[in-house]
Amino acid sequence: MTAKQTLLQELPTDLERGRLPKHVAVIMDGNGRWAKRQGLPRIMGHRRGVDALKDLLRCCRDWGVGALTAYAFSTENWGRPLEEVEFLMTLFERVLRQELREMMQEDVRINFVGNLGALPRSLQTEIDRAVTATQQNQGIQFTVATNYGGRQEILQACRAIASQVQAGQLEPDQIDESIFERHLYTAGICDPDLLIRTSGEMRLSNFLLWQMAYAELYITDTLWPDFDRTQFHQALVAYQQRDRRFGKL
Ligand code: FPP
Repeated sequence: MTAKQTLLQELPTDLERGRLPKHVAVIMDGNGRWAKRQGLPRIMGHRRGVDALKDLLRCCRDWGVGALTAYAFSTENWGRPLEEVEFLMTLFERVLRQELREMMQEDVRINFVGNLGALPRSLQTEIDRAVTATQQNQGIQFTVATNYGGRQEILQACRAIASQVQAGQLEPDQIDESIFERHLYTAGICDPDLLIRTSGEMRLSNFLLWQMAYAELYITDTLWPDFDRTQFHQALVAYQQRDRRFGKL
């Protein structure tokens, strides 16, 4: 942690504790560009990206944000060069193995959303281990979207509900938002209040399409490896200035 970040361990006084987002989602964009600017290979950007994510997680916990969801790998990311995909899979696995002890100490409950069955077997094993080990932790809910696609998530929920209808367990009229949500990967997790996307891109990129219906969007030009507590503070100040009406007056 840098000296500046250490100073920001307490919730900054210009933020209202009672109006913090309960759930923050992040699209960690710009790792490759960050590395390029430093004259480094792209993978170094992902490495630094892990450090930025760890600090954000710690910051959310320190400041009292109850849930953080990070978009680590989309269903579209398989289209990247094989060596980058393999690097990312190995990185996820190694980070999970190395960070488990700290997640236990810091009371982090980790879970994963996405089509996990298509991930390498050894990564699935680390995921199962980390999810099981941390499931009683209550400090913060940390969700990692891996091989995740919002449309795919909605489709698999439709298929599961259609099967229940076909089996005569459910009437079409009974299908409402709460039944639908129970079939999403994120069942049991509240919807994000704030989405942060780095590197200036103004897209949702197939991330939490259903869940993001009323999320406030915060886009910053900062590249993900440079996103620190000061930047997060700015995002929360902007969030607290928004007037969230949820379609009402
Ligand atoms: C987007 O930047 C970033 C990714 C696709 C990977 C993000 C993954 C991590 C930071 C690792 C997280 C680890 C765990 C265990 C949760 P980009 O490569 O698209 O950057 P660019 O747009 O500049 O090319």
